[in-house]
Amino acid sequence: MTDQTITSFSREHRVFRPSAEFKAQANLGSETTYKRLYSESVNSPEKFWGREAKARLVWRRAFTKVLQWKLPHAKWFQGGQLNAAENCIDRHLLTARANKAAIIFEGEPGDIRTITYRQLHQQVCQFANALTALGLGKGDRAAIYMPMVPEAAVAMLACARLGVIHTVIFGGFSSEAIKERVNDCQARVVITADGGWRRGKIVELKANVDRALQSGAPTVERVIVLKRTGQEVPMEAGRDRWWHEVVAGQPIEHRAKAFDSEHPLFILYTSGSTGKPKGVLHTTGGYLLGTAMTCHYVFDLKDEDVYFCTADVGWITGHSYVVYGPLACGATVMMYEGAPNHPEPDRFWQIIDRHAVTVFYTAPTAIRSFMRSGDDYVKRHSLKSLRLLGSVGEPINPEAWMWYHTMIGKKKCPIVDTWWQTETGAIMVTPLPGITPTKPGSCGRPFFGVVPKVLDEEGKEVPRGGGGKLFLAQPWPSMLRTLWGDDERFKQAYWSELPGYYFAGDGARFDADGYLWVVGRIDDVLNVSGHRIGTAEVESALVSHPSVAEAAVVGRPDELKGQALVCFVTVKNSVTESAELKDQLRAHVAREIGALARPDEVRFAAGLPKTRSGKIMRRILKELAAGGIVKGDTTTLEDFSVVAALQSEE
Ligand code: WT7
Repeated sequence: MTDQTITSFSREHRVFRPSAEFKAQANLGSETTYKRLYSESVNSPEKFWGREAKARLVWRRAFTKVLQWKLPHAKWFQGGQLNAAENCIDRHLLTARANKAAIIFEGEPGDIRTITYRQLHQQVCQFANALTALGLGKGDRAAIYMPMVPEAAVAMLACARLGVIHTVIFGGFSSEAIKERVNDCQARVVITADGGWRRGKIVELKANVDRALQSGAPTVERVIVLKRTGQEVPMEAGRDRWWHEVVAGQPIEHRAKAFDSEHPLFILYTSGSTGKPKGVLHTTGGYLLGTAMTCHYVFDLKDEDVYFCTADVGWITGHSYVVYGPLACGATVMMYEGAPNHPEPDRFWQIIDRHAVTVFYTAPTAIRSFMRSGDDYVKRHSLKSLRLLGSVGEPINPEAWMWYHTMIGKKKCPIVDTWWQTETGAIMVTPLPGITPTKPGSCGRPFFGVVPKVLDEEGKEVPRGGGGKLFLAQPWPSMLRTLWGDDERFKQAYWSELPGYYFAGDGARFDADGYLWVVGRIDDVLNVSGHRIGTAEVESALVSHPSVAEAAVVGRPDELKGQALVCFVTVKNSVTESAELKDQLRAHVAREIGALARPDEVRFAAGLPKTRSGKIMRRILKELAAGGIVKGDTTTLEDFSVVAALQSEE
């Protein structure tokens, strides 16, 4: 095999093959089968997906048409009806899984709870009954702003059971971000908790919700509050209700209605290239099929597995690979509430040994931070239960891959580096652990039904080895259906770069073996610690500060976070530049968006480099942020002295 490595990474030419032992037990252990299934999935997609959907999901009414594709709008499994919660829970109650652990939970303070499928069913039914009693039903929107506790999954599944569309808001987001999302989808209810535990401290979730609603969220009628951290929180009469009070006395049974396959399951907001987050809409049948099927093939899930995905339910990874996918497969899901380094940087390894975790899925930024903490923290634990590792969220550098492979996987666990997005709903490009030889830094080959293309500016296929833009050429069941309330933006953001193709926003290349190497975002979206942040969102937060006249935000390569946020700020005439102001601006952005968007660096600029038509030249700012000298073409620049000034400030 030949290796193509991408330039920003050091080279690692070795190829790692699954052991005979792993292969023998794998859900897919034959390359011939992969080839046959893949070719069927792209050449006869309706036949392939129709068969898979029948086999993997429980339908109340059979679908009559597999796919209706009126580009860019797809409808999968029309005529079919099903219930997502029933597919994740009820179906297992008829099997030996009824009393198996669905969720093993460990809170940050160390509290442990195991919830069987039967108990999960009771809790979801009870909460669904409580939501019904509050007047919620099919098509209503509910916002969920919770810590990583089982009740977050219960709330999601109760919504799904009722056809209520949920939007989970990551607990690290600010009250401004809550307000924006709640208003965009016009949520009638917010489900939250008094707080959550993070590094021994309480994250004041209820207080953030209160602030969001005080500043204007007219559609919210009710706030349901789970007692988790136990501190005093004000409850507004008529609006706020305790979780334990609304479920008290509600029956632990509930007859789920079936919904159309295309009924919306959830909206998840993600950053785009404007200041306003995009409400990615996923529907029921196709999404469930995509997540369940990838869990089966990529995570190789078996009934004996204890599967630990470290993502928060506030992100797509938490939706697809903590809740819907693994539960649809009847797996045991390990769920952890808090920080990976609390009380010490070995918390994940402790959890793996304590609960005998077999499959572990995390992000490169986490791996790099464990590398930095030193191997001793790992060596305290055996990790002998592990059999498969996964990575997601950003390109993994070969150094981190090798450390993961040797220190965590003890050289015996295959690593699946999975490329996908909020919009794709499920994993798109990945090794299959029983068959694909892996190359550190590459996410391997396409999953079933996925046709990735690396194309140049003219839309022509780039020969293997060359870089270009990453597109997907065929519809797939778990694809986003639209952006909530903004179909125009949906068309513009994903389908206008090259007519007929889904544009992923990433740069990538295929190597000579057909392995995909994703370089990272090429649009105005940054990837900071595996989280997507739109530069425009940070810019609009900055200019909302009274001292700021203009701002431009770019990414700078960062060893730990992948990318760091660098802000170039022009202050208003009357304002003096100072170190204090820099701190204030950083705090201001964290308050406006959330701590994850706190800028790493603020630099004052008397002017920003612009073209004659007034467009900010981000390429130049990126070069400056990286500490370099501006090398590229500057002939379109309106005023070079702006760049000279910024450069001499170095
Ligand atoms: C963006 C999507 C998908 C869940 C987590 C992030 C980057 C994701 C990989 C990977 C290289 C990756 C891409 C993508 N990305 N996984 N394995 N290798 N890059 O979801 O917030 O929607 O972000 O994350 O840039 O476009 P998201």
